[in-house]
This record gives sequence, structure tokens and C-alpha cells, in this order.
Amino acid sequence: MRLSVYVHIPYCLQRCRYCDFTTFEQSEIMPPQKYVDMVCAEIRSRQSFWPERELATLYFGGGTPSLLSSDLIVAICQELANVGFQRDETCETTIEINPATLTEEKLTGYLRAGFNRFSVGAQTFNDALLKMCGRKHNASDTRDTLRLLKRYQLNYSFDLLFALPGQTLQDLKLDLEDVAEFAPNHLSAYCLTVPESHPMSLGRPPEDEQVTMFDCIEDSLARNGLLKYEISNFARPGFESRHNLAYWRDISYWGIGLSSHSYARDFGNYGMRFWNPKALPEYGGQILQPDLPPAQREALAEHESLTDFCHMSLRIKLGLFEGALRAKFPRSIATVLPRLEKLVEQGLIAAIPTGWTLTQRGELLSNLVFGELTFLADALG
Ligand SMILES: C[S@@+](CC[C@H](N)C(=O)[O-])C[C@H]1O[C@@H](n2cnc3c(N)ncnc32)[C@H](O)[C@@H]1O
Ligand code: SF4
Repeated sequence: MRLSVYVHIPYCLQRCRYCDFTTFEQSEIMPPQKYVDMVCAEIRSRQSFWPERELATLYFGGGTPSLLSSDLIVAICQELANVGFQRDETCETTIEINPATLTEEKLTGYLRAGFNRFSVGAQTFNDALLKMCGRKHNASDTRDTLRLLKRYQLNYSFDLLFALPGQTLQDLKLDLEDVAEFAPNHLSAYCLTVPESHPMSLGRPPEDEQVTMFDCIEDSLARNGLLKYEISNFARPGFESRHNLAYWRDISYWGIGLSSHSYARDFGNYGMRFWNPKALPEYGGQILQPDLPPAQREALAEHESLTDFCHMSLRIKLGLFEGALRAKFPRSIATVLPRLEKLVEQGLIAAIPTGWTLTQRGELLSNLVFGELTFLADALG
């Protein structure tokens, strides 16, 4: 099995008002070269943990990786190669790009380093809404970035943010016209999520309108050839994000950099999760240690692994594979099957030849499904 690698780049042009990710305005932290040195040190000290030496996917996310010079991004790719991780042209190699941060020079640097997928944080093409979100780019910057990617005939994805304060269905339809014009191969639709106390929770479309908005996105994308393959991700057939599929299909991934999470599926009986700290000084203090402190590691018990397996599999259209479930959890199958049958009776999941998949009703009420498929230690005896 090949490995998936995520590299976190915590620099941004600005801090968007709604964002909860571990990122900083670029002037607030160390120069990027120093951070990249730390990432390379982490690669050297932790690489021997991973028996898989071929990469299935490599993903630079953030933050805003495209804020850094391409030489720094390439230096991280090179460090992975230096310690023996092989990457050929079949490796899906993605970088997140924010409008107003990509130049042709950077792009050619990425292309020389084998990047073959570009994820563009477009969010919306409405300048007033972009401003309200606290973003520094405008729609014209986004169009320039997309024209450049299009000119090079590249494979790109959009992030589309919706259900913003004051946003109407008509606003969203205008965004979808831009999406159709630029014809991405993939789109991730994010419904704004903020706590109730957040200023951006005021003035948002009511919940039933948010559902209509999501239906509108799904219909418009389907008309343009992008099909839903995960709860909020759409792609032309063959362009599903293989990196994200690794998260959803129980495949090992190594998260490198500040606050990154990793999962080693073959560790112990049920795999192990581990994660880097969110504070830079603490991260910097750990990078030379081959092992993370015990508080940042968690060997999964059977009930935790089973819960993850069911939740993650049901996010994607292909659903929960019965064969894989039986193979990984032979002892628990008698506990799981009656719960799945109950969900089928409730119309929340459907039995399909390979196993089970969420129904449309199940997607809307996914909390009920995930609640039923959350297993406590005593449930498995
Ligand atoms: C980690 S961000 C990285 C992408 C890039 N930095 C950007 O913002 O354009 C990935 C995506 O998460 C989404 N996102 C961030 N905060 C969110 C929130 N509070 N609610 C919903 N989506 C959010 C945005 O659409 C963003 O494009
Ligand atoms: S650019 Fe992206 S990662 Fe950075 S603050 Fe905004 S949403 Fe968060």
C-alpha cells in the first residue's frame, strides 16, 4: 500500500474572520525559510517510522502554501525524496492556491516539481462577501488565477463557501455561473460553520434555505458533469481527490508540519493516530525526536477504530464495504449488522451490492446515522 502525505503550511495573507485552522498572518511568525527548515528536520527524524516508501498522494495545504516561494515548496518535496520516498507521475500531487498569491514563475516551479493538481480557495466571486469574510483578494484576482491555470491546461479544484451572512440564493447562482465558466474538475462545497457567538453567525440564510442552496449547488454541478462522490465534494468521474479518499478509506497518511495529524493503519491491532502540537515553539522543540510524546499518540481500540471506519466510509458515495468491514472487524460484525439493518429500515442508509450507502434522507440526518454507528467499549463485549 502506498502512503499519503500532507504538509501543513501555516502562512496566510490575512486571517479570514471565519477560519479556525492553525494559521498565522505571514508577518506574525518566523520567516518561511525557518519554518521549512523545521519541516525538513521533522521529515528526517520521523521518516523511518513509515515502511511504505512510495507516495500515493502528496498534498500541501494550509494556510496558504502558494504564499511561499516555489523554491521552498520544492525543498520540502526534495527532502522527502532525499530520505527515500518515491513519487512518480501517478502520485496525485496537490497544492492549495489562494487567489492573488500565484505568479507564473511560481506555477512553473510547481510544475517542474511534479505538481499535477491545484486547489483554488475561490470561496465566492462576490466582492462584497469576500470583503465581509476578511479576504484580501477580489473576484478579479480569482479569475486571473483561474485563467492562468486554464492557460496551462491544469487540473484544478475550487473551494466554494456558501450560506454566508446576507448571501441570497441569487448570489449563489451567480457564483455557480462562474464555476461553470471555469469548469473545474473538482469542487469542495463548504457551508459556513461558525459558533453561535461568532459575529458571522448573524444574518445567515435560514437552515431550510441552506439546504436549498446545497441542492442548487448539486444540481448545477451535475449539469456541468461534476457528480457528488462525498457528502460535500464533487468531481468529474476520475477526478475525485485521491488524497481525501485516503482519509475516508482507511489508508495510512503522514501529516507533517505544525498541528498536522497522522494515521498509521497497520500499527498494533487497530492502527494509531498521532498529531503535532499547534504552537510553533512546542512544534520546534519536538522535531528532532523520532517519537512524539505519549499525550500526542493514541493507539486505537477496536470500538474506536470501528466507529471511525463506519463514519468515514459512509461519507463517500461508494459507502461502507461489507467485505472490508467483515475482514477488519470479524469479532464485532454481530453488533454492527443489527444497527445497519435498523438504519436501512429508517430509510437513512440503503443496502447496495457492495454494502451500504447513505440515502438522501441519511445525508440530511447524518448525525443520526453517525450516532447509531458510534460504538462504546462495552458495546463490543
Ligand atoms: C484550510 S482552508 C485552506 C484553503 C485556503 N487557505 C483558502 O482559505 O482559500 C480549506 C477550506 O476550508 C474552508 N473553511 C475554512 N474555514 C471554514 C469555516 N469556518 N466554515 C466552512 N468552511 C471553512 C474554506 O472554504 C477553505 O477554502
Ligand atoms: S486563507 Fe484559508 S487558511 Fe488562511 S485564514 Fe483564510 S480560510 Fe483560513
